[in-house]
Amino acid sequence: MEHLLEGKKINKTFVTKGKETTALSDVSFYLDEGEILGIVGESGSGKSTLLNVVSGLIKADSGELFYGEENYIGKGPAHTGKFLRMIFQDAKSSFDPRMTMEKSLLESRRGKQDRGELSELIKAVGLEEKLLSRKVSDMSGGQCQRMSIARALYSEVGILLCDEITSAVDVSSQKQVVELLKKLNESRKLSCIFVSHDIALVSMLCGRIMIMKDGRCVEEGETAAVISDPKNEYTKLLIESAKKQSF
Ligand SMILES: Nc1ncnc2c1ncn2[C@@H]1O[C@H](COP(=O)(O)OP(=O)(O)OP(=O)(O)O)[C@@H](O)[C@H]1O
Ligand SMILES: [Mg+2]
Repeated sequence: MEHLLEGKKINKTFVTKGKETTALSDVSFYLDEGEILGIVGESGSGKSTLLNVVSGLIKADSGELFYGEENYIGKGPAHTGKFLRMIFQDAKSSFDPRMTMEKSLLESRRGKQDRGELSELIKAVGLEEKLLSRKVSDMSGGQCQRMSIARALYSEVGILLCDEITSAVDVSSQKQVVELLKKLNESRKLSCIFVSHDIALVSMLCGRIMIMKDGRCVEEGETAAVISDPKNEYTKLLIESAKKQSF
């Protein structure tokens, strides 16, 4: 079966002041419809670069990217915005400070506006409708995070790319965001790539997991299988240190 989203042998090297950093080496991945794929790895392992390449914000040096049958490598956000949305750690900065939440959300949809659906979505992400009249400066980080999820859903894209979206919020908001994604995944068949350095959090949410180190995918598989029987030494290390941290 054809995947919803697929990347094949993606490479990306950054050159700054004559110095090269290979951020991605032959990274391949896939995402099926209605699936939440977790990507875990330490700082600098290439997670954000991968999402930026997938969303067209950064151009890969080589490799292929497929949305269904369409190879869209080389296309920018104007094109990828038709089928995916990025959600960032700093949700606040993704909102125009001059606009109300309502305006920001309405602008995210190209097609016919539907206010009824908008208020339904606001409730679905656990926010009160009155927040729609606020500007970003009057919202908390957790509220913005949920608002940015609502905005992505309202824009009618089927794929969310989440880059460390729970890192800047407190533990209880973290849980709420994870629960929300789980719920939306079940009720709306939302497909999602969830990037985090927190393997414990990822294992709560994602059916499948991919471990990255130094720009490579070192292990991939069903979360339960990877957690209970990791094949890679680095994966073993990650799981061990996560176990220690939770006690
Ligand atoms: N614009 C850039 N210019 C130069 N080097 C970059 C750039 N973006 C990323 N890199 C480098 O590429 C590597 C991968 O970075 P990336 O941001 O993808 O890692 P990450 O896994 O998201 O890390 P973190 O968990 O800290 O967010 C790092 O060595 C980083 O320094
Ligand atoms: Mg990152």
